[in-house]
Amino acid sequence: MSVQLLDGKAVARATLQSLRSRIDALSRKPGIAVVRVGEDPASKVYVGRKTARAGKLGFRHEEVHLDASVSQAELEAVVDTLNADDGIDGILVQLPLPAGLDSTAILDRIDAAKDVDGFHPNNAGHLSQGRSRFVPCTPAGVMRILDHYGIDLEGKRAVVVGRSNIVGRPMAMLLEQANCTVTVAHSRTRNLPDLLADAEVVVAAIGRPNFVEGGWVRPGAVVVDVGINRIEDGSLVGDVDTSSASERAAAITPVPGGVGPMTIAMLMANTVTAAEQRLGLSGEG
Ligand code: GUN
Repeated sequence: MSVQLLDGKAVARATLQSLRSRIDALSRKPGIAVVRVGEDPASKVYVGRKTARAGKLGFRHEEVHLDASVSQAELEAVVDTLNADDGIDGILVQLPLPAGLDSTAILDRIDAAKDVDGFHPNNAGHLSQGRSRFVPCTPAGVMRILDHYGIDLEGKRAVVVGRSNIVGRPMAMLLEQANCTVTVAHSRTRNLPDLLADAEVVVAAIGRPNFVEGGWVRPGAVVVDVGINRIEDGSLVGDVDTSSASERAAAITPVPGGVGPMTIAMLMANTVTAAEQRLGLSGEG
């Protein structure tokens, strides 16, 4: 049986298309501000994609680019200004921040009603209790892909590889809320191949190129690859060795063109939700 490719680009297109009528129903443009600090090349690419997509959807969009030498107090003042700007519905501070800046304090400072990344402890806490407001974009995008392809999660054994606040931790909560039995593996996990041998669903989000070997994948598993790693020859690879995993998996997300486009689509969706809520419409968050 050949592997089914889970086409995140197509699901992202459908997701963005479904936002059109919600955007049209607003009394003003949704507004998003993306804050980038320093010169991390990957962050520059990601932020460029986020603001470009916001522009295409007709959002008010701002990129605030600060020098890596910015102080904690100066960065906090930028967040305060955006919090107070009525036309800005969503604020995103691109991570990682340069060493020396306290990212937790910065994320905590973003108004939870504008926290379209879903990283504020208020939103993370709501998610953990199964009454989500803003859900982090990447795991929300993974759930949207699985739903789009009608993948049945009920009672399935899922292994999430990675425990970051951005992906692994919220991903595990969402899969559990979809009635999976979830194991979270991480860099200190012993015998990951043994865990994966039982996994009917695998989400790899550990940030190591080709880390999950095809031979570890349970035949018939659904494999979601969140990784985007640039390797020495300049190409992009995921956290899963896609070619060998494709020989055993029933379905797999490609890299690129899998989860990546969904992160941006869900950011746009969260921003529309924030605008709806701030304008007194119900919102979907
Ligand atoms: N860095 C990598 N992924 C993300 C994301 O989803 N949001 C932010 N703010 N930074 C990131």
